[in-house]
Parts: sequence; structure tokens; C-alpha cells
Amino acid sequence: MWKPDRQSSTPLYQQIANDLQSKIIDGVYPPGSPLPSERKLAEQFGVNRSTVVLAYSELRSLGFIESQPGSKTLVSPYKWNDEANRTPEWHRYAKSGGFLPNLPFLRRIREEVVRNSSLIDFASGKLSADLSPVQEINRILQSTEYNPGQGADNNQGFLPLREALALFLRRHRDIHTSASSILVTSGSQQSLYLITQCLLSPGDAIAVETPSFTHSLSMFQSAGLRMYRLPVDEYGVRPESIRQLHKKHRIKMLFVNPNFQNPTGTLLSSDRKKQLLETASELGLPIVEDDPLSLTAFETNVPPPIKAEDAASSTLYIGSFSKIAAAGLRIGWIVAPHSVIQRLVDAKRQMDMGFSIIPQQIAAKYIESPHFIPHIEHLRKELIRKRNRLAAALDQEMNGLVRFNLPIGGLHLWCKIIPKVNDGKLLDAALRQGAAFVPGSVYGAESGFMRLTYAHPKFEDITPGVSRLASALREVLE
Ligand SMILES: Cc1ncc(COP(=O)(O)O)c(C=O)c1O
Repeated sequence: MWKPDRQSSTPLYQQIANDLQSKIIDGVYPPGSPLPSERKLAEQFGVNRSTVVLAYSELRSLGFIESQPGSKTLVSPYKWNDEANRTPEWHRYAKSGGFLPNLPFLRRIREEVVRNSSLIDFASGKLSADLSPVQEINRILQSTEYNPGQGADNNQGFLPLREALALFLRRHRDIHTSASSILVTSGSQQSLYLITQCLLSPGDAIAVETPSFTHSLSMFQSAGLRMYRLPVDEYGVRPESIRQLHKKHRIKMLFVNPNFQNPTGTLLSSDRKKQLLETASELGLPIVEDDPLSLTAFETNVPPPIKAEDAASSTLYIGSFSKIAAAGLRIGWIVAPHSVIQRLVDAKRQMDMGFSIIPQQIAAKYIESPHFIPHIEHLRKELIRKRNRLAAALDQEMNGLVRFNLPIGGLHLWCKIIPKVNDGKLLDAALRQGAAFVPGSVYGAESGFMRLTYAHPKFEDITPGVSRLASALREVLE
């Protein structure tokens, strides 16, 4: 039998009220049922009757019980489950916590993409469904068996996948590594997240390309990092700015996306890659090389990563399946020194107890299959076709209104809008016209730029989509 705790700092009447309240909520005292008299309860709990009077008074004020002076006390038939009294204030909870919300422009675009099925979407930074090797992946899926004993306790990632990735990295990225230096993650986004959470602390300074990938920008802000800008021109980031930033702000890490950068599409020249690596090695500064797009190279050979030249192990290399095969599999990876991998694996174990085995099995089989390289070749050709279609449509529909460089790889075209426009107004007008793009300011650029992802809309929708954007721009200019 429960009794109030006389040593507790909570007053006796409050303890009794709390106990009765939970019994009412749990149905021990159902709605409309009588409660014991004040005298009986006082005896039962070994307290003064006035303490029970106070407890009942508290429950009455909360609407849990009803009683008239001199009559029985009853559990309220109406108010005992009154939500206003008992529902947590979720809106307050939803505003707290460490994660900042996504930027309003991005939420607005996402809502519209979900709401309007006829929208022509140049905003989602993904491949269209027809550019994913759907048939092959389904075939592998059908022939894949789930084995409960396999992989469940391997937080570093499914070993056959790590071995397949080591081979892939040697063949296609000139990175010589082994399965033990690779961590499989849930897309490169999780790699970036683990790096910020495990290797950096709130208040640390990092240098990021400006403009750069928006989901990493909000994540860095949520992690409390101080971000300093590395300007990007048509040949990528300018390495000479690093030394000054490092001296002035004690930069702890450098984040770059050197090959067909998201959003600008720029390719960091080999000279600059070399210079970047030399500067970072001299300063003992780690580079995070985010490289999800290099295999899409259109006109040049696939550009080598910074990591391939990295004798001093300055680079944490991040890759992903998302932009070259299937974003839905959520397969990403990090190549890093052993101590870093161990630290990240330990954190990942706390975070998600390791990653689902099925997509890892599929990715391992697919990457080793004879279909993988022909798929990449097909992907490149299709991306070139889509890029050309977008460029031609822009020339035709928005001649004199926009300026852009033709990207030579990747999924995106970065477009300067020549007349002065308000990003938000243009986005609203475009969504009304039925086309979506991402305003450049989302990536930290000055206003008046847009990122157009040619990889996502269907080929035949590209020209009509640009017509809609052109109508939106004219509407805003008028
Ligand atoms: C440069 C860059 N890094 C990382 C990501 C995250 O991709 P994922 O987590 O799907 O691998 C993206 C996605 O758009 C990206 O563009």
C-alpha cells in the first residue's frame, strides 16, 4: 500500500494528489466513481484530514474530481481526461533541442513538391527514377537472402561491402585503402554528421566553400560551429585564402566538395587541389573531401580526388551511392585513419547500432556486378543530354536574363539572374507557375542566383519547365 514519503521535499498533500491523479488516469478510479471520504483517506495515509482536503482541492482545481460541500467526492465524468490539462506542450518541445529547422525556402519547396504532382522539379538534387539502375537492383534484391547471423554486430559496415568499396576506390578513385579504413554510413550526410559530432566541438571554427551544400551548412550551425567562407570562383575554391583564415580564426577543419561542386558545378583544378593539400599539410589542418559526384564527369576523365595525392593523411574522404546509383539505398562511406574510424564507429553504435544489412548486401553485389560500369557510362550520356537540353532551353527562353557556365559533370547548373530580383518573390512566382528551383541564397550565395538540377526532371519536361521559370521571372520583373 502506497504511503506519502515524509522525508520528501514534495508536500504531503501534493504527493497524495499526484497518487490519486495517476490512479484516475490509469482507470483504478473510473470516471463518475466515488473516491474514499476525506476521513478514511486520512486514516489510510496516516495524515491529517486537512492534508487530504488540500489534495482533493488540488484535484478539483485541475478538473479531475467533483464534489459539493457535504456530499461524496466523485471522479469527474467529463474532465478527468481533459487534454488541455494533460497534453504536454509539444509546440514548445518542438522548438527546443539541438537541431535547427531547415531553411524556410527549402521547407516551402518540399511542401510544394509533395502537394503539386504536376510541378516540374529542378530543385530536388537527385537523379530521376529512370537514371537509377532499378532493374538490376531489383534483380539483386530478389536473389538476396536475409541471414540473421550476418552483419548485425558489425557497426563499421558489412565486410563484403567494405571490401568491394576498397576495390572500387582503388580502381576508380586511385585511393589505396583497405576494408578496415572504411566506415559505411547512411549516405554521405551521416558521414558529415559523424565528423561534426565526433571530431569537432561547439565553438570550433571551420572553413567551408561559399556557396556550398545546404544540408551541411544547417548541420554545421546546429553543431554550434563557427563557419568561415572560402570563396569559390569558376575553378573552385581559392586555396590562398586558407592560410589567412587559419591564422585569424584558428580553423580546425576544411570542408570541400572539389569535383562538380554542389551547387556551382565547378571542378577544382589539379593545381588548386595540389596547393590546397600542401597548405593543409603545412598547417596540420584536416580536409574533409566530400566527393559524391566525380564519376559523372562528362568531358574530361574522372577527376582524381585530393585523397589520391595525400601522403600525410590529411584527408577524410567521403563518398556516396546516392548521386551515381540509388539515393534510396542510403549507402555512403568514409575513408579515414584508423583512430578516426574507431571513434566514429563507437559513436555510430550509440546512434543507430549499425546500419541495415539489406541495402549493404545489395550495394556490395551491385558495385561488383558487370552492370555497374555500363550504368555509369549510360548515366553520363543521359546527364549530358539533359544538361544540353536545359542549356538550350535557357538560351531560348531566358536569353539575356540569365548567365551560366556549362557544367562538365554533376547534376546541377548554377545560374546568375542578370536583372535584380528578390529570391523569395521569384520562388513564389515559379511555384505558382508550376516549376521549382533552389534560390542561391540557400547555399550562402548573394541573392540573384538559382540552382537548377537537370538530373531530376524528366528529359521532356525540361523545356516546358524552363518556360514556366521564364514566365515567373517576367512576372516578377513586371
Ligand atoms: C555535396 C553533397 N554532399 C553530401 C550529400 C548528401 O548525400 P547522401 O547523404 O544522399 O549521400 C549531398 C546531397 O545532395 C551533396 O550534394
